[in-house]
Formats: sequence, structure tokens, C-alpha cells
Amino acid sequence: MSEIGEVATSLTLPSGLVLPNRLVKAAMAESLAKNGRAGPELVKVYEKWGQGEWGAIMTGNVMVDERYMGSPQDTTVQSKNSVEIDTWQRIARGIKAKGALALMQINHPGRQSRAGAGSRGFLQKNLAPSAVSLNFGTGVVVKTLVKVLFGTPAEMSTIQIQTLINQFADAAKFAQQVGFDGVTIHAAHGYLLSDFLSPKTNTRTDAYGGTPEKRARVIVEIIEAIREVVSTNFSISVKMNSSDQQYDAGSDAVLKQVDVLVSHGVDFLEISGGSYENPRMMRGDEVPAKSERTQKREAFFLDFALAVRERHPDLHLMLTGGFRTRTGMNSALQTKGCDMIGIGRPAATVPDFPRSVIGIGAKRDISDAEAGLQMQKVETPWLLKHLPFPELQRVLVGGAETMHYGQKIGEMAKA
Ligand SMILES: Cc1cc2nc3c(=O)[nH]c(=O)nc-3n(C[C@H](O)[C@H](O)[C@H](O)COP(=O)(O)O)c2cc1C
Repeated sequence: MSEIGEVATSLTLPSGLVLPNRLVKAAMAESLAKNGRAGPELVKVYEKWGQGEWGAIMTGNVMVDERYMGSPQDTTVQSKNSVEIDTWQRIARGIKAKGALALMQINHPGRQSRAGAGSRGFLQKNLAPSAVSLNFGTGVVVKTLVKVLFGTPAEMSTIQIQTLINQFADAAKFAQQVGFDGVTIHAAHGYLLSDFLSPKTNTRTDAYGGTPEKRARVIVEIIEAIREVVSTNFSISVKMNSSDQQYDAGSDAVLKQVDVLVSHGVDFLEISGGSYENPRMMRGDEVPAKSERTQKREAFFLDFALAVRERHPDLHLMLTGGFRTRTGMNSALQTKGCDMIGIGRPAATVPDFPRSVIGIGAKRDISDAEAGLQMQKVETPWLLKHLPFPELQRVLVGGAETMHYGQKIGEMAKA
């Protein structure tokens, strides 16, 4: 093993695909699309990341239904004209230029699709497993805001669920057609599929609700539908939340759902956490840990990953959120908390993070003490700090963090 440690070693996935090292550029919505279409800016951004010595690069979430987007600048691959095919082929080529795997994250925003994001009509409701509104706080002002921005979602019919499954399969087929090595299904962060998993947002009593296993069924059916339209070495993975606020404390429901996904052969599982209501994944950065013990545990969701590992020793696990130092990454790998390290905000700050910060393929040796990125906490605008709605403030602070790093991705497209 090189002095850089386990983070620099290759990894073979069950699909047979090989990551040249353990660092994965995590999915980050680039906010660069117009009317859902990817363009030259997006190509440029991925060509830049593709030069960075990443083990794998995930796209930001690509929406499977153009009627429902997370933001108006999200991408969708629903209409597949020749220009789009060419653009996505260039994106995949850019990602793979130096050996990174190209993985497209596919998503449906569910009740987190805000008004004006997507081509649906003004009166068309958001979709959700059950008609449960977002909860950003209890006051009248906040409730009215939620109503205007997101509305109360409609409970999906079984026909709509079938359409959704087909849309995910279509997107995966497109991803393979344009040269991606795999797709990763977004079932985290409060979007549609994570709402299916949670008993707080899925109160159905049919085949898609009622028990942890039934709440995971839609994802199983998506995996099966994708498998029918792609080749056997195409990677299918899932990003899901750790057992966080979506579940009752101490509940092992989410671990049972992990069991279900593992038994259906996911290539790897990515662990994250949080949602719009409580953006835990966007926790502000503390400066790199002072004591060795805290540095070793810099990942936000490591404890949950270790619980998953106990049940599934052979599962390939990716952990995202909070990794900033090589020591912290190697420590998580050594304790078997994960096999792959997801890197979000640092990748928007330093596109060739694996090389210039961690030292993979670098011309000079980088010591353990140097190999890390001290991220500045994003300053919360004065107005937000003084809002009289504490719950809403938490939401907006998460949004400010996302916006700040989204702008950095935008700068990559211009440089
Ligand atoms: C600008 C921005 C956009 C994001 N978009 C997505 C997304 O499209 N899909 C996703 O799963 N996570 C998204 N995330 C969350 C990241 O993948 C990651 O979970 C989070 O940033 C925590 O990791 P970090 O501490 O390394 O930044 C986004 C984060 C940022 C900063």
C-alpha cells in the first residue's frame, strides 16, 4: 500500500467495475441546466472533475420526470434528442478521461419540487407516497409559505407508481446508452423514494406501505426494472439516509430496509442523511478535528454505517458527509465503516481534490498533516440569523450552504 494509505487503493465492485481509488465525487446538483437540458457548461464542469484522479464521479441528481424538478436549473433526461445524447456522451467521456467510473444519479423530487420547477401545470400537485405536507414549522406564515411553494402533495396511485418505475428504468437505459458505467438511485434527503421509506411520510396500507419491507418495495421494483434494460456489468446502487429523524429513535426499520436492498443485489449502498426539513447532510463544517479521536470520526454518519456493516460484512458501502482529511478517510476505511468515500463540498472547492489535497497521482509527497481541506463555514446572511422562525431558519441555512457551493460549481464552468 502506498504511503497515502487505503484511500489510494483500487476497489472492484460486484458488477466487476473497478474504481482506481476510493474517492467518489458525490452527487451535487450543478444548477447549470436550462429547461432541464444539459449544455456545454455541464460538459466543461465534468471534464474538469474528470482530470482530478477521482475513483468515481457521480452527476448531480438527474430528474426522471421533467414535470417535477428540484429546481428550475436541474437536468432531466426524459426527452432524448440527438443534441442531448451528444452532450451526455461528452459528459461521460469527460468523467472517464483518466479512469474514473461515470455514475449518473437519478431522482424524483417528490414533495420537495417547488413551484415553477418542472413543466407541470400550476394546479398539478406534487407526488408523494401519502398526502403529507412538508413541515418547516408551525406558525401561520411558515405554513402559508410551504403551501405556496410546495403545496400538499397528492398520494400516488398504483398506476403512477408504475409510471415512476418505468421512468427510472428509462433514465438508466439512457445513461448506459450515452456511456455511463452505472446509475445511483437517490433514495435519501427527503425526495420521493426516501419518503416511501419513512413511516412518517408513507402511511399507505397497500403493497407499498405498512412495514419497513413494503415501504422499500418501490425501490426493489425500480432495481428490477432497470436490470431488465441494462447489461449485467452496469452498476445499480442506492443512496439512502441513515436512521435519522425520519425514524423513531432506536428503530431498526431502516436496517431492515437495507437488508431488502442488499438481498436484491445493489452494487453498493451510499449512506447519507437529512432532508429539506432538517438538512443534516449540509451540516456546517467544523475546522478539521483537533484531537485524533474526533478526526478519526469526522464522517457525519459513520456510526450508522458501522451498524450496517455488522449485518452485511460483504456489502460495498459508500459514506458521504463530513470527510475532509486523509487521516479521517483512512480511519473510516480501516474500521470497515465504508469502502468508498463520498466527497461533496470539497469537490466544488477543489475539483482535483484527490490529487492536490489527498496526493493521489500528485508529483510531490503530501504528508498526513497537510492532506486535508480546512473548509470555511458558510456565513449565514444576517437576515436569516434574525428570522423569528427557528425551524425555517434551519432549512434556509442548509439552502444557503447549497447555494454557496452551487455557485462554486458555476465558477468551474466559467474558468
Ligand atoms: C451544491 C450541492 C448540491 C447537492 N446536490 C445533491 C444531489 O443532487 N444529490 C445528492 O444526493 N446530494 C446532493 N448534495 C449533497 C452531497 O452529495 C453530500 O451528501 C453533502 O454535501 C455532504 O457531503 P460533504 O460534507 O462532503 O459536502 C448536494 C450538496 C451540495 C453542496
